[in-house]
Amino acid sequence: MKTIVYPGTFDPITNGHIDLVERASRLFHHVIVAVASSKRKQPLFNIEERISLAKDALSHLDNITVLGFDYLLVNFVKDQKADAILRGLRAVSDFEYEFQLANMNRALSPQVESIFLTPSEKLSYISSSLVKEIGLLGGDINAFVSPCVRDALATKFKNN
Ligand code: COA
Repeated sequence: MKTIVYPGTFDPITNGHIDLVERASRLFHHVIVAVASSKRKQPLFNIEERISLAKDALSHLDNITVLGFDYLLVNFVKDQKADAILRGLRAVSDFEYEFQLANMNRALSPQVESIFLTPSEKLSYISSSLVKEIGLLGGDINAFVSPCVRDALATKFKNN
């Protein structure tokens, strides 16, 4: 049974992330979506909210688990007895950071492999920051996120 861990901040999960999880769910027996606490990024949604939104947005897939973590990714991968780390490559600009991350994770734990998938090209320009900015400014984000995320962003910005 092959298990892959897809880590990220997911603040919030977007249709680009969902596309990647759907692809991975067809290739692996089990996909663990690992929501990092990422305190340094000062996320808009707290970790419980990000986990809950990811669970909701991925509820159509049955070989997925969404978990939070707040320690080294390679140790989380080992604790979950997973086989590899999944990351997305949207554009050439992602490559340098992803290459550094993969090499650092390999230096920390040589047996943990990193695997890369590309999302559909029509989703390749989406990022969580842009979605938040458009939502804050009252733009239409329906094409970029699930209805649950759209509603959560609307509530968040109404209360802020
Ligand atoms: N579709 C849409 N957006 C995507 C995407 C996709 N397929 N793939 C990446 N992104 C976007 C995200 O929305 C995010 O955008 P933002 O910066 O505008 O919010 C950006 O790309 C990158 O974010 P994300 O994929 O969430 O990754 P991250 O860089 O925040 O997370 C971790 C990096 C969590 C994997 C890394 O920090 C980590 O491993 N942390 C655990 C601690 C650790 O082990 N640290 C040492 C690492 S060597």
